[in-house]
Amino acid sequence: MPGMDWFGDEERREVNEVLETGCLFRYNHDALRQGRWKAREFEAEVRRFTGAPFAHAVSSGSTAVAAAMAASGLGFGDEVIVPPFTYIATIEGVLLGGGLPVFAEVDDNLCLTAESIEKALTPNTKAVMLVHMCGAAADMDAILALCARRNLVLVEDAGQALGAFYKGRSVGLFGVAGAYSFDFFKIATAGEGGVCVTHREDVYHLLHQFSDHGHDHIGDNRGMEQHPILGTNFRLSELHAAVGLVQMRRIDQVRDRKRSAKQALKDRLRAEVPGLGFRPMPDAEGDSGTFLNLFLPDAASASRAAAELGSRGAGVNYWYTNMYHFINQWDHLKNLRSPFKMAIHHLGAPQDYNALELPQSQHSIGRLISLGVRANWTEAQIDELGATLVDVLRKYC
Ligand SMILES: Cc1ncc(COP(=O)(O)O)c(C=O)c1O
Repeated sequence: MPGMDWFGDEERREVNEVLETGCLFRYNHDALRQGRWKAREFEAEVRRFTGAPFAHAVSSGSTAVAAAMAASGLGFGDEVIVPPFTYIATIEGVLLGGGLPVFAEVDDNLCLTAESIEKALTPNTKAVMLVHMCGAAADMDAILALCARRNLVLVEDAGQALGAFYKGRSVGLFGVAGAYSFDFFKIATAGEGGVCVTHREDVYHLLHQFSDHGHDHIGDNRGMEQHPILGTNFRLSELHAAVGLVQMRRIDQVRDRKRSAKQALKDRLRAEVPGLGFRPMPDAEGDSGTFLNLFLPDAASASRAAAELGSRGAGVNYWYTNMYHFINQWDHLKNLRSPFKMAIHHLGAPQDYNALELPQSQHSIGRLISLGVRANWTEAQIDELGATLVDVLRKYC
């Protein structure tokens, strides 16, 4: 799945341009940088591809989530609905911002649903942190209608879903603010990096100010800039931005290749493995193609199939037992272990995380295996992988 599938001279050239000027910092130093603004160009590429009116690059997907929370006005004591299936960064972003995570169910689309969000609402619910998991969108029409009806702030963690669209609109652009990750494992990488997007100019200003100690970024005298708000340092370096911008220039081709490799595998599995389930996406046309998500009849067969595929050189993610992606393994969260007291320690958790029952999520994620789809597979490799998948999965379906 990662952007590293396709990496080369263009990245080297852009990084070298930064090194030639010696201006590794994204702001100011207008004379030194000789017109080279890699973070700005990176943001422009993200705007082009997603259609976002505003984009702001930060140091990681995790800081993008934290900045999106902050710029959406979410903080101390705010209850935020979150999924139990995501990368732990989503939950950490809510907690570190002073929020109180409330877990709601995901279904076979691997995301929260309008129905599950509604069931989890309390009189104190302020927001939904919607995660578009494994490369495709949540069911946006229903979720948007619910958020409007119940006056909920919608923030999107699209950390794994850059390249996914819902009815023509990029994920990340449905709520107040959205976050993408550009870490090493994503469809496009900056080495480390993230980008926040929004429709709202006021939110955009909060995003870039909050991510740089409140600087208003006006003029070329950094020490004399105004600081309308407090913030922190989530800045991206020009070196990372140089890599990210090249990766964004070719994301359309990377996504097309992933989609066609995924389609070939899916067609074959549908024809040759009766009983195998596929992710029911609300808009399959908008799938980014980064993961082929398959459902086995039960958790035991999914676990065994994942192990056998791994031993046959066709490794898949079995998220159910992965330490970072599913709530069953988050004992540090359940016991609120952190080096300092967060809002949740003072205010108490809104749910008993140790006693939480999420049967639908257990059912969905227990049966799920996800194959990361690569952009650089040859037809022969897709053929060989398809044969292995068919051979193994038939035994377990
Ligand atoms: C859904 C989701 N959110 C946030 C992140 C955090 O991104 P990063 O690793 O760039 O901090 C990830 C990373 O895998 C993710 O999958």
